[in-house]
Amino acid sequence: MAAFDVIFIGGGPAGYTGANRAGQLGLSVACVEFRGTLGGTCLNVGCIPSKALLQSSENFYHAKHKAAEHGIKFTKLEFDVAQMLKRKEGIVSGLTKGIEGLFKKNKVTYIKGKGTFVNANTVKVVAMDGSIEEHTAKSFVLCTGSIPVELRSIAPFDGKDIVSSTESLCFEKVPDHLVVIGAGVIGLEMGSVWLRLGSKVTVIEAMDRALPPMDGAVSAEMKKIMEKQGMLFHLNTKLTKAEKSGKGVKVTAEKDGQAMTIDCDKVLVAVGRRAYTDGLGLENVGIAARRDGKLDVNKHYQTSVPNIYAVGDVIDGPMLAHKADEEGVAVAELIAGKSGHVNYMAIPNVVYTWPEVASVGLTEEELKAKGIEYKVGKIPFMANGRARAFGETDGFVKIIADAKTDRILGGHIIGPNASELIAELVIAMEFSASAEDIARSSHAHPTLAEVMKEAALAVDKRALNF
Ligand code: NAI
Repeated sequence: MAAFDVIFIGGGPAGYTGANRAGQLGLSVACVEFRGTLGGTCLNVGCIPSKALLQSSENFYHAKHKAAEHGIKFTKLEFDVAQMLKRKEGIVSGLTKGIEGLFKKNKVTYIKGKGTFVNANTVKVVAMDGSIEEHTAKSFVLCTGSIPVELRSIAPFDGKDIVSSTESLCFEKVPDHLVVIGAGVIGLEMGSVWLRLGSKVTVIEAMDRALPPMDGAVSAEMKKIMEKQGMLFHLNTKLTKAEKSGKGVKVTAEKDGQAMTIDCDKVLVAVGRRAYTDGLGLENVGIAARRDGKLDVNKHYQTSVPNIYAVGDVIDGPMLAHKADEEGVAVAELIAGKSGHVNYMAIPNVVYTWPEVASVGLTEEELKAKGIEYKVGKIPFMANGRARAFGETDGFVKIIADAKTDRILGGHIIGPNASELIAELVIAMEFSASAEDIARSSHAHPTLAEVMKEAALAVDKRALNF
C-alpha cells in the first residue's frame, strides 16, 4: 500500500510520457501496466514494429525494383522473413527497456499488473503471479488505450488466418494472397509490407476511396500509386463473411448488390480500433463509458469524477501516439497546477506507405463544409531536383491558406519523406503562420523541403520553379 500524488493506469505513449512529466514536475507518481512491457500498442504491436517491417520490406523492394535505375545490379537477391521479424523484435525490446530507464530517471514507480478501481482514491492491482496490492493516490489518469475492432459475427479473429494488425506483424512466411478489410492506415501500411515481399494483396473498402478521412486529392493519388505497385482495390465494397475453407480463407463481399468471392490464405481485418476500458472497475467510482467504450472528459481531461482524468485513445480525437503523449504531458501539468494544453489543429497524421502521406489541419472537404474561403498551392515532387536525384517523384505538396488572411489552415503531402516534411507545417500552424511566411523562408537547395516553399508560393500564384 503506497500513497501517490498521481497514478497513471496504462503504460502506453499517454501513460509513460505523462508519468515522466509528472515525475519531472516533482509529483510522486506511479504507472500501472499489465502487458509485461511498457510502451503500449505503439511500441509493442503498432507504430514501431510496423515501421521496422516497412523499412525492411522497402529496402528489399528498392533493391529489386529501383536499384537498377541507379546502376546497381544484384545477381542474387533474397530476403529472410525470420531475420526481419528478429530485427523488429530487437528494436521493440530495446525501446521498451528504454522507457523503464526513463521511469528510474524521473522517479516513476512501475507497478506491474491489472488495475481496477476500489474507490476514487484506491486502485487494486492484480499482478501476473496473482498477488494483489492496493495503492492510493490523490489523482488517477486513465490511459488504457484501444484494441482492434473485431467483426465478430462475420469475420471473428482466429489469431492465425483471420487476424488483426498484431498478428499481421508476425506472419512467419509471406502469404500468397492477403485480403485486407479496410483501406485505412493499418490496411495500407501492413498491406504494403507483404505486397513488397511478394504477396498478392486485395483490399476491400466500404467507402468510395482509400484513406477516407484524408484530403480527397491525397486519397485519389494514394490509390493510384498503390495500384501501380500492384495492390488491388475493391471500393464501395462491404465484407459479408470471412471463414476458414480448406487450407485457406473464403472471403465474400458485396458491391452494388452483387456478391463476390475471393479465396486467399490470410485475412487482415483493419476496420478501426475501439477504446479499451474493460475491467477498470469504473462502476465502483460512478464513471460510465460510452457505448463505443470512450470516456467523456472536460477541457481539463477530468471525467465525471474530478480527481480521475482520462487521455489518449480512451477519449475523443484521433487515435495517434503523438496525440496521446501530448495529452499525457498536458494532464500531468494540469494536475501539478500548471496550464497544460494541446493544440488539436496542429496534430499531424502520417501514413508510412511509400510514398508516405502526411497531413495537418483541415482538408479542402472540411473547409467547404464549414463555408470558409481558402486558397490552394499544389506542387508535384516531379518539379523538384532532389526528388529526381532520389528517383522518387510521385506525389505532391498541397498547402491551404485562408483566402483573406493567408493564415495556413491545412497542409497535405503525399511523397518521399512526407512524415518528416510535415513538421514544417506543424510548426507553421503552431505559430499561426501565413503561407507567405513559408514562401519567404529560405529552404536549402537541393532539398525535398523546397517543394514546401514552392507550394506556399503557389498559394499566391507565384511559384518560381513550376
Ligand atoms: P481506419 O479507421 O484508419 O480505417 C478503417 C477502414 O475500414 C475505413 O476506411 C473504413 O471505411 C473501413 N471499413 C470499416 N468497416 C468495413 C467493412 N465492414 N468492410 C470494408 N471496409 C470497412 O482504421 P485502422 O486502419 O484499423 O487503424 C486504426 C487506428 O490506428 C486509426 O485510428 C489510426 O489512426 C491508428 N493508426 C495510426 C497509424 C499511423 O499513425 N501511421 C498506423 C496504424 C494505426
